[in-house]
Amino acid sequence: MANEIILEARGLTKEFKGFVAVAGVDLQIRRGTVHALIGPNGAGKTTCFNLLTHFLTPTRGSIFFNGQDISDWPAAAIARLGLVRSFQISAVFPHLTVLENVRLALQRRQRVDDQARALLDAVGLAEYEARNAVELPYGRKRALEIATTLALDPELMLLDEPTAGMTQEDVERITALIKKVAAARTVLMVEHNLDVVATLCDHVGAGAWRGPGGGRLFFRFAKPRRDRSVSGSRPCLRRPRAPPSQPTTPPASRCWRCATCTPGTANRTSCTA
Ligand SMILES: Nc1ncnc2c1ncn2[C@@H]1O[C@H](COP(=O)(O)OP(=O)(O)OP(=O)(O)O)[C@@H](O)[C@H]1O
Ligand SMILES: [Mg+2]
Repeated sequence: MANEIILEARGLTKEFKGFVAVAGVDLQIRRGTVHALIGPNGAGKTTCFNLLTHFLTPTRGSIFFNGQDISDWPAAAIARLGLVRSFQISAVFPHLTVLENVRLALQRRQRVDDQARALLDAVGLAEYEARNAVELPYGRKRALEIATTLALDPELMLLDEPTAGMTQEDVERITALIKKVAAARTVLMVEHNLDVVATLCDHVGAGAWRGPGGGRLFFRFAKPRRDRSVSGSRPCLRRPRAPPSQPTTPPASRCWRCATCTPGTANRTSCTA
C-alpha cells in the first residue's frame, strides 16, 4: 500500500558534546498502528522524540514523514504537518482555564469555542472547563494535554509517558482515552507501564545501552505476541505460560518498569525501579 509508512528514521544520532545519547536509530512506523518505545531511564527515549519533532537537531540521520524528508524542518512546521508530541512533564498553562488552554491550541481555527468544548467533551473534561488548569488533579491535566495535542489534528501523535505518576484509576482513564484517539490516527508512545503497553500497542520497540562504554540507544521493534490464554486477542507482553510439568520462571526475574534490566544482577544498575 502506498504511504503505508507514516514515519521513518534512518541512522538517527544525537551527541551532546561527545556524549552519545541516541546512536543510529532506525525506525519505521506503520500508519494506523500504536507503537511503544520502552527502555530504562536514560536510554534516550525522550531524546528520540525530541529529534523526531526537531525540538533537538540530530547530529546525524534523516527523518521522513509520509515519505517527505523533514530532517531540517523547524518544530512548528513539523507540528503543522501533523506530527505532534506531548511532553514527559505535563505542559499546560496552569493559570489559564481548561477551556482557555484548548482555545489557545485551536487559535488558528474558526468557531474556536465549539471545537474546544467538543475536544474537552472527548477527553472527559467538559465539567472542568471553567477551572484553572493548575487546580486539576494530575491525571486530568494529562487529559487536558492530550486535548491540546488533538487540537492540532495530528496524523501521528507522540506521547511521552502519558500515564507516569498516575493513580491506577487515572491510568485506566488515560489508557481508555488513548485507545479512543488512536482509532483515528497513528500513535508512538514512550511508556514504562507494561500493562498499558500490552493493552494499547501493536508493536513494541525496546531501547537499551549497547555496551558499558557508550553507544547508547537502539530500538528493535517487535510485534507483541497475542496470548489468547491471557486476554483474548489483546497484545500481550507476558512470558508464555510453561506447561504444568515444566518449571515456571519466577516473576521476580522480570523488571516491572523497564522490562529490560534484570533485578538482582549487575544489569540492574541501569534502572531505578
Ligand atoms: N540536553 C542534553 N544535554 C546533555 N545530555 C542530555 C540532554 N538531554 C538528554 N541528555 C542525556 O541523554 C540521555 C538520554 O536521556 P533521555 O531523557 O532521552 O532518556 P529517557 O530514555 O527518556 O529516560 P527516562 O525514562 O528517565 O525519561 C541521558 O543520559 C540524559 O542525561
Ligand atoms: Mg524520558
